[in-house]
Amino acid sequence: MDDLYRDYILEHYRRPHNFGVLDDPTALYEGANPLCGDRITVMLGIRDGVVAEVAFTGRGCAISQASASLLTDEVRGKPVEEVARLTPDDLLDLLGIEISPARLKCALLSLDTLQHALAESGAGASGRANDPADAADADARLADAAAAPHASPVGTEAVRTAPEPARREAAR
Ligand code: FES
Repeated sequence: MDDLYRDYILEHYRRPHNFGVLDDPTALYEGANPLCGDRITVMLGIRDGVVAEVAFTGRGCAISQASASLLTDEVRGKPVEEVARLTPDDLLDLLGIEISPARLKCALLSLDTLQHALAESGAGASGRANDPADAADADARLADAAAAPHASPVGTEAVRTAPEPARREAAR
C-alpha cells in the first residue's frame, strides 16, 4: 500500500469525520460485519429529500472506520436519490487504495449500513418506499464480500496495530 494513502486512511481512522450521534435522526441502521463482529450505526437527518445531517458510531478496523468517515463526508448535503445510487466502486474510489478480497467487507460495511438505513426509512434506491429488495441487495453484496477468499491482507498489519483513536482514549 502506498504510504501516502495509508497515512490518509489512518488519519480518517484516528480522527473520523462525522463520528457521533444525531439527536433526532430520520433514518438509522446498525450494520455488522458477520466475520469479525464489528458494528457501525449510521444516522441520517433527511430534510426535503436531502441528507442534511449524517453521523456514525461504532467500532472496527481502520479500513471500516475510514470508509465510514469518507462516506459520510461524501453524502452530506446530497439528494437522497443520488446517495441511494452510490455503488461499492464509488466508495472504493473514495478510499483510493487497493482493497484485498478479505478486506472488502470492511470497506463496504458503511455503505451497506447506509443503504439499509435509507431502505428502512423508505428512501432507498430508486425511491421505492420500504422495498425489502433494497435491504436484500445490500445483504447480497455483504455476503459476496464475506464469501471472498481469505487472501493475506495487504498492509493490514499496519492499520490493525495503529494507535487507538483519541476519541477512544477520551472515553475511558
Ligand atoms: Fe471488522 Fe474490518 S470491520 S476487521
